[in-house]
Amino acid sequence: MSKRVAVVTGGIGGLGTAICKQLAAEGRQVVAADLGSREERLAAFREETREYNGSIVFFPADVSNFDDCSNLVKGITDEYGSVDIVVNAAGITRDTSLKKMSQDQWSDLMHVNLDGVFNMCRHTVDGMTGRGFGRIVNISSVNGQTGQFGQTNYSAAKAGMHGFTMALAREVAKKGVTVNSVSPGYCKTEMVMKVPDDIRAQIVAQIPVGRLGEPSEIARTVAFLTADDAGFITGANIPVNGGYFMSF
Ligand code: CAA
Repeated sequence: MSKRVAVVTGGIGGLGTAICKQLAAEGRQVVAADLGSREERLAAFREETREYNGSIVFFPADVSNFDDCSNLVKGITDEYGSVDIVVNAAGITRDTSLKKMSQDQWSDLMHVNLDGVFNMCRHTVDGMTGRGFGRIVNISSVNGQTGQFGQTNYSAAKAGMHGFTMALAREVAKKGVTVNSVSPGYCKTEMVMKVPDDIRAQIVAQIPVGRLGEPSEIARTVAFLTADDAGFITGANIPVNGGYFMSF
């Protein structure tokens, strides 16, 4: 069997890079999709993934743009034959209390974090159901489960991603395609490091494990859900948060 092909949106970001590496280590052909304009980060990503010898490649795409996603999927299919695994890890924050939130802070976030999931799934799901195999993982957040001060936009989008996950999971379950969410807690990423030090320290103090998560700890959860023999897990949300939010 040829290698399964995975696309990771936000692929050169904090969690995305770790996910690309883990999936490549599991024998997948990986496409990291991200904004081509992040030149500095892209150069660092290329350096970090050099040893993977072509099993991780970069394709530019803006997930908030429907046609861009269509071109991305077409480009990957032309090059590698199919898209078998989609990991929607592209996400931004625009933290501020609602009373100060501009319309752009709301809608920019929705376009990337939520429209991006629709755009990618819309362009890949037919191929997956047609071939009888697919794995979709949406990277949600603990803050979609609990709500976070200053994140009405982000918490709404992340909770929305899981609603999307459950609905699509039902639609494609009989065709060999699973759809799941992973809800990371606070991890060592640039996004979390942008939170002011004092606020971040207060948050870490509430994590039972007593530390931030490693991106690799999210990546191994994604690898678990995208394995060929993970076909009975669908519509699920896997929390990976160091015990910051426990639920049943
Ligand atoms: N709970 C209650 N009150 C809080 C609070 C909290 N968590 N945080 C701030 N406040 C209070 C402040 O003490 C202040 O009170 P006073 O007005 O009495 O002085 C007031 O609320 C500040 O309100 P503002 O309207 O001025 O807030 P702001 O618009 O300046 O926003 C903030 C503040 C930028 C949101 C800041 O609180 C912050 O950065 N919070 C952390 C947000 C966060 O955790 N983001 C996660 C990013 S990483 C990520 O999202 C990844 C992931 O999935 C986990």
